[in-house]
Amino acid sequence: MDHFQIIQGVMHAEQVPLPVIAEAVGTPVYVYSTATLRRHARVFREGLAGVPRKHIAYAIKANPNLAVLRVLADEGYGADVVSAGEMRRALAAGMKAGDIVFSGVGKTREELAAALDAGIGQINLELEEEGHVLAEIAASKGMTAHAVLRVNPDVDAGTHAKISTGRKENKFGVPISEARSMFDALAGLPGLSLEGVAIHIGSQLADLAPLEAAYRRIGALVEELRAAGHAITRVDLGGGLGVPYRAGDVLPSPADYGAMVARVTADWDVELMFEPGRVIAGNAGVLMTRVIWVKPGVLNPYVIVDAAMNDLARPALYDAWHDFAAVRPTGETMMANIAGPVCETGDTFAMNREIDAVRSGDLAVFRTAGAYGATMASTYNSRGLVPEVLVDGDRYAVVADRIEPATILAAERVPEWLAR
Ligand code: LLP
Repeated sequence: MDHFQIIQGVMHAEQVPLPVIAEAVGTPVYVYSTATLRRHARVFREGLAGVPRKHIAYAIKANPNLAVLRVLADEGYGADVVSAGEMRRALAAGMKAGDIVFSGVGKTREELAAALDAGIGQINLELEEEGHVLAEIAASKGMTAHAVLRVNPDVDAGTHAKISTGRKENKFGVPISEARSMFDALAGLPGLSLEGVAIHIGSQLADLAPLEAAYRRIGALVEELRAAGHAITRVDLGGGLGVPYRAGDVLPSPADYGAMVARVTADWDVELMFEPGRVIAGNAGVLMTRVIWVKPGVLNPYVIVDAAMNDLARPALYDAWHDFAAVRPTGETMMANIAGPVCETGDTFAMNREIDAVRSGDLAVFRTAGAYGATMASTYNSRGLVPEVLVDGDRYAVVADRIEPATILAAERVPEWLAR
């Protein structure tokens, strides 16, 4: 459930009419709902009621806006970060260093050192060599790094190939068959406390079966590691739970997920870590756009909107579906294609779709744009960076400015040998 509803003919974010935001901030603009973020954070936690010891680290890559992070910090969430930049954001939002997990397949020495200096709670190792380097850096600082080893369970998560991470050919984790020997090599190193294992098999998972299969493999690995004398005190189960992108889609709920986790992990006797991203932020945001033209096409007209693939990359990257809805629906519909102004055929949000009838000048939204939306924006075609607005009840605030093309231009230089 989200808080983007039609009230007296006009779409609102909570109690704020979207045209008010469009008037004040312009379009395109991302609009987030605090109530939806809080609701999702609570529903996810409640879904895990059957898990006695747990820590939830929101995967901030999904939506790293500082204000969004502050809301989730208020909800008691930690953060899963994948770069020093994300770590800085999580700390700036008030998340405790001890509640932060540092993941990522290419952490640099500088990032590992920064994580240690900050007191990050858990570092997820991606290869044996990284464990040696982390131990060496920690020992040189007189510190102990708390780490887990990410394993690749080799399961097909059944999602888009570009967001699948748990197959053996993917770049993530170490083969489960090698985990034991890596534990043997790393466990005794000064500076390193290797406390468990981590997995994450992919994103937008619509089926719990591959997750369950992966978790069972982890359960077996935990037994094997313990039998070899390793103390395993935590297991990081990653993120990945999908969300409905199309009206009518039915996906496993956090309660279904939590029940599966509780069942599979009942006798593990560890603290479980979770890294949800999309399920928290996805339906808490829309991308509001204005129709520039309705251009006649061969089969259907092209609704050309002022948002483009640089603002919301998911359709171009993953053929992703985002529902499109008029801000002032008339009840009429039309068959149309929806595209942005960028000079690429891939800048198409939908083809041959029945949508709310819109005309040039109308406002509309792409739904379920709160995750992997603004954060993946670029300035392609010398377009600006899209602003972000957070609504809370009847108030709203701009929580990320629009970065104008002129600001981006101002950061570029012509070298003196080309000067005129
Ligand atoms: N943990 C790790 C280690 C991850 O790599 C990810 C996502 C998550 C947690 C959070 O997964 P979630 O709960 O959000 O599924 N840009 C793509 C999604 C990329 C996901 C990358 N990793 C998209 O727009 O669909």
